[in-house]
Amino acid sequence: MTQETINSEEKSNKGDIEEHQTNHDYDGIKELNNPAPFWIALIFIITIVFSMVYTIHNFGFPGNGRDQVSEYETKVEAFEIKKAEMRMAAMGDGAELDPVLVIKAGTKLYTDKGCTVCHGNQGEGNNIGPNLTDNNWINGCSMDNIIEIITEGKPQKGMTPYKSIMTEDQIKHLATFIKQGLVGSNPNNPKAPQGEECTD
Ligand code: HEC
Repeated sequence: MTQETINSEEKSNKGDIEEHQTNHDYDGIKELNNPAPFWIALIFIITIVFSMVYTIHNFGFPGNGRDQVSEYETKVEAFEIKKAEMRMAAMGDGAELDPVLVIKAGTKLYTDKGCTVCHGNQGEGNNIGPNLTDNNWINGCSMDNIIEIITEGKPQKGMTPYKSIMTEDQIKHLATFIKQGLVGSNPNNPKAPQGEECTD
């Protein structure tokens, strides 16, 4: 490389530097304008947006059910239901229990065991199973009748036998829940009554 080419390269470097220089000058040290490549900047912006969404989603804000207060309330509620289930199991038919607890724990059992699939979310009935909220019954309306139909089912008509799926106490609990919580609850879209009206 001749001296001339070195000189001319130095010159063009100098030109580049001047071209990219910002006005920032710190004790003679100059700052170059050297922005990050577009793709790096883009990833950086995406991480910022992601972190905001993530924070709100995970830590919540009052009202979205994920903030501390709602989390606490959900946990306490779940605990109350568990407590009611245990008391119900200990007492059998739940006759002496707080009806609110019977209904809370019963609703959970009713949903967990899949009764909703054939009898609707509120027991209103659907095109598979009958309405459990009216006062008409195909299989009788006494506690014993209801326990019997849940225990033995009626496979030929599409009602699952639950004796191998639930304990006797759980079945009693559900029967109590149906009598105390579902019958007379007037849900939306009730299925037309079937069977005999209960005269008890
Ligand atoms: C796969 C669908 C299905 C599931 C799941 C189901 N049922 Fe049924 N259930 C039926 C059908 C169908 C009948 C009507 C049987 C008949 O015609 O006698 C019925 C009848 C009943 C009856 C008697 C109603 C009457 O009028 O005599 C009760 C009580 C009952 N089910 C409770 C429950 C409970 C509690 C659960 C959940 C543990 C449940 N069922 C889950 C389909 C189902």
